Amino acid sequence: MTKPTIFSGIQPSGHLMIGNYTGALKNWVELQDHYHCLFVMVDLHTISVQQDPAELRQHTYDLIAMYLACGLDPKKNLIFVQSHVTEHAELAWILSCYTFMGELNRMTQYKDKAARHQANINAGLFGYPVLMAADILLYNTNLVPVGNDQKQHMELTRDIAQRFNARHGEVFTVPEGYYPKVGARIMSLQNPDKKMSKSDSNSQNYIAMLDQPSVILKKCKRAVTDSDTDIRFDPENKAGISNLMSIYATATGSTMDDVQNAFEGKGYGDFKKAVGEAVVAMLEPIQKRYHEIRKDETSIEKMLQVNAEKARELARPTLEKVYDAVGFVKPLR
Ligand code: TRP
Repeated sequence: MTKPTIFSGIQPSGHLMIGNYTGALKNWVELQDHYHCLFVMVDLHTISVQQDPAELRQHTYDLIAMYLACGLDPKKNLIFVQSHVTEHAELAWILSCYTFMGELNRMTQYKDKAARHQANINAGLFGYPVLMAADILLYNTNLVPVGNDQKQHMELTRDIAQRFNARHGEVFTVPEGYYPKVGARIMSLQNPDKKMSKSDSNSQNYIAMLDQPSVILKKCKRAVTDSDTDIRFDPENKAGISNLMSIYATATGSTMDDVQNAFEGKGYGDFKKAVGEAVVAMLEPIQKRYHEIRKDETSIEKMLQVNAEKARELARPTLEKVYDAVGFVKPLR
């Protein structure tokens, strides 16, 4: 039996925070033996919003180093940069001829981003979901782990694949979204009704993967709680404490009952200190590996070269099939 294929794309913009680790990366480390996984830095997508070129380049290295530091193995998975595999952009063009303006116009992420970047509502931003469909469809992907905010893009990807197949025969595998369970989310420290987000303007709201231990301890100490005293999991009435309990449980690998029992009768102060220490203990080995990997850009580049070549070997036959299906003359090679 061949393993099902998983495709995951992430934009090299900004730094990762603990939610990215506990909600995604940590689980992927476990998936890597059971699935054929592609982890792709989607730099082509990133420039649909204006970027500083030097920062984009640094963020791309940073993100790859972080993936490796978290335990994703570039020998078991394909970890590469989207712009290194030109088939992504080429397939996106073809698929854009199979996507309706009306469909793209309905995308809520486009509407949100257009509202936020009014001076730069470019065609790339509009066509963003088509490029995402190309990413996924190039590799006969079965499963796409994404947040709920990407559901609409996944539905569009499936529609494009089915539309193309209906016209030209079974060219594409129709992929499925693989969504996180509700409740598995980590919330903002200061505003626990909101999701913890790396783009939050207040850094007290999140814990970044590269935060110093002293910063992590301080952020946990200052996290918003309530005026009760009991440490009890009740996300509705005790959002702050419940969030800290989830963080503690994920960081230590314990169940919610364990956490509740361990802190029975203890004060919030002690509990927050324990949460901070648990997060530090989880992140310290990752940060150490990260700094070692990150300083050797040559090794990162070599790994990327090997992985992009392997990705191309998978992408090229799909693109050729598509070119043939639409009626392009096959060039002699
Ligand atoms: N749009 C995704 C996001 O913002 C990133 C992305 C691009 C992606 N291409 C993808 C995700 C392909 C999954 C599969 O999160």
